[in-house]
Amino acid sequence: MSDEFVRVGRLRDVPPGKLKQVRCAGQDVTIANVSGTIYAFDAYCPHAAWPLAWSGVEVGPPARLRCGLHGWLFDLTSGDAILPPEPQCLPIWETRVVGEHIEVRPAAAGQPAAK
Ligand code: FES
Repeated sequence: MSDEFVRVGRLRDVPPGKLKQVRCAGQDVTIANVSGTIYAFDAYCPHAAWPLAWSGVEVGPPARLRCGLHGWLFDLTSGDAILPPEPQCLPIWETRVVGEHIEVRPAAAGQPAAK
């Protein structure tokens, strides 16, 4: 997979508090807007593969995602699960906003996404 950023949507399509699932380089990725900061992560819950776009975000800090099926809680800055505790549970993608566009790329292996 390329390590370049890929444009996946417009900022106006993901207003604060909302999530959206997109495709990037053949993978499903979910974008979240938490109080104006964009996060991206693998689209399916590592517990039982629930689509994480059907979840809720919490402002924090740290910014968090609560899975809509069984309630696992993830730190969106690191990918760590908070409940139940498990380090680097959810693969986080790097994000950037260029003008009105959201761009993502996978974080380097073993590294939390830089913001
Ligand atoms: S599928 Fe997400 S917590 Fe169970």
